Amino acid sequence: MAPIIRPRRLRSTPAMRRLVSEVRLDPADLILPMFVKETLSQPAPLSGLPGVVQHTLDSLLTAAREAVAAGVGGLMLFGIPEIRDESGSQADDPDGILNRALRLLRDELGDETVIMADLCLDEFTSHGHCGVLDETGAVDNDATLERYASMAIAQARAGAHVLGLSGMMDGQVGVCREALDDHGFTDVVILGYTAKYASAFYGPFREAVDSELVGDRKTYQQDPANGREAMHELDLDLAEGADIVMVKPGLPYLDVLAEVATASPVPVWTYQVSGEYAMIEFAAAAGAIDRERAIEESLIAFKRAGADAILTYWATEVATALNGGV
Ligand code: PBG
Repeated sequence: MAPIIRPRRLRSTPAMRRLVSEVRLDPADLILPMFVKETLSQPAPLSGLPGVVQHTLDSLLTAAREAVAAGVGGLMLFGIPEIRDESGSQADDPDGILNRALRLLRDELGDETVIMADLCLDEFTSHGHCGVLDETGAVDNDATLERYASMAIAQARAGAHVLGLSGMMDGQVGVCREALDDHGFTDVVILGYTAKYASAFYGPFREAVDSELVGDRKTYQQDPANGREAMHELDLDLAEGADIVMVKPGLPYLDVLAEVATASPVPVWTYQVSGEYAMIEFAAAAGAIDRERAIEESLIAFKRAGADAILTYWATEVATALNGGV
């Protein structure tokens, strides 16, 4: 029997497929994560993230300008300080590397793009945890909140438009909102890492920030088995004043992303993390998959699941390609 209904009709030509595409990628949806390291005099390539480097302040500015010229939606900065200590004192020092980088980019780029900072202690602590430790060596939630509040003020003063609260401490959005408002930074945006899972896919990132972590982050990041819990975290972040929420990692958590995107009244972003990037780069380098198609398909998957924007190490490259560039 000849079928009457033929979904293939809408797949017949590239123009037809383009016309009926349910979602599309736009350069403005892509946010570039960038690493700046205090001790470098040259950019340093990362073996686990081929094509990604740790920047000097100079090379950071150059790469930021390239990303902005390609039309990316924003930049997310991570800093790697020379000196680490128990409390992560470089995190809220105005002369700490992350705050210096923020100031540089804001001075040079103004409001031309959206400048964001990772607000977490792990790059700054000698033990590599996202918070400060108590006398037993456990992460002390409430003592950490005080450090985050101080970081929020330092990053806002340095010129960040958006603060990315990635530490997964209870109450972090609320304390940062209050600290910002008390200091007159009522317009600084809070991106809550609402559902952030304790993931093996952060592997290459640990090299990118020279992480000193021994052990894991399972007492503060979420268990990969728990999807419903993400909705509880969403309620809390919204109640505490998050302006934007995040689901991270991306591909292994598309179900969580889709559910959060359906329920959230505020923008929902996702982070295509270092291990997701590495999987595609290494598989493509081995000849197993087509690199560009795999990148595009992974990004489209986030849009289909409901992400409004995506943090991806391919942001500049994909934005350039979307503009019809190389
Ligand atoms: C914590 C942080 C991490 C990432 C972003 N922010 C690492 C972690 O939680 O262990 C991972 C990003 C990536 O893997 O690309 N500040």
